[in-house]
Amino acid sequence: MEHEHTKQMALEYHKRTGFPFVTLKTAMTLDGKIATSTGDSKWVTNELSREDVHRMRHWMDGIMVGIGTVLKDRPSLTTRLPEGGGKNPTRIVADSLLRIPLDTPLVTTTKDAPTWVFCTDQADTEKEKQLIEHGVKVVRTGSGPHVDLVKAMKHLGENGITSVLLEGGGQLNWSMLEAGLVQKVVTFIAPKLLGGKESITPISGQGFERMGLAVPLKNVTVQHFGEDICISGYLDQVAAGTQD
Ligand SMILES: NC(=O)c1ccc[n+]([C@@H]2O[C@H](COP(=O)([O-])OP(=O)(O)OC[C@H]3O[C@@H](n4cnc5c(N)ncnc54)[C@H](OP(=O)(O)O)[C@@H]3O)[C@@H](O)[C@H]2O)c1
Repeated sequence: MEHEHTKQMALEYHKRTGFPFVTLKTAMTLDGKIATSTGDSKWVTNELSREDVHRMRHWMDGIMVGIGTVLKDRPSLTTRLPEGGGKNPTRIVADSLLRIPLDTPLVTTTKDAPTWVFCTDQADTEKEKQLIEHGVKVVRTGSGPHVDLVKAMKHLGENGITSVLLEGGGQLNWSMLEAGLVQKVVTFIAPKLLGGKESITPISGQGFERMGLAVPLKNVTVQHFGEDICISGYLDQVAAGTQD
């Protein structure tokens, strides 16, 4: 029901703004880590939580990650429901210089689900050609140095993507949040402790310098998945990020 409700909100948001409704989803330990310092993140949460993430994917038009996550995890970002079936969202990658390997699942499985890669004008045209040959859609967002996320979201909205599940990592999550492009946050918390100042956190980047600038969530709900908990909430300024 929760996921169907989000889908409905997304359709309304997209109709009103032209942008996709973005849900930032993370899975972290109780001490706020999404991966170890070596990048190991399998698995933070339990099976019930992970199953719910796949149900979420089923309702989304798109699922988005940064190239850091692609290089570390080699994810396929498809939907795997325990009863089988499930709809695969369009896989979206922010990858300024097209570093995405040709043998990574997102490139080798474009027959199962579309993969769109956003890059800058600096990206290699030969690599672009190779990716297109593998069935990947490549979209340039300008001079860089990084992918212009507002332009990327606008492009998605114009091409039928009304909802996006943002699955990180920390750098992309921060940039999306800072640009005002996130509308909902869903955080799964596993009751385990990892420690380590080099361990990876859900939202990294520069961060805000004062507590008063922290982004508050509204309409917060708490769910339990076995011993994991999941906290969800909405950002106030759902209309932000709609300017050119
Ligand atoms: N537990 C979880 O929920 C979870 C979920 C996802 C990932 N992870 C973990 O997170 C780690 C990866 O996180 P990460 O922060 O290193 O990588 P990331 O956020 O996945 O990717 C960051 C990269 O995206 C590219 N990018 C392009 N445009 C960008 C923009 N406008 N803003 C920000 N980045 C942009 C940049 O590289 P270019 O400039 O070269 O394009 C940047 O280095 C992995 O260890 C993974 O296992 C955990």
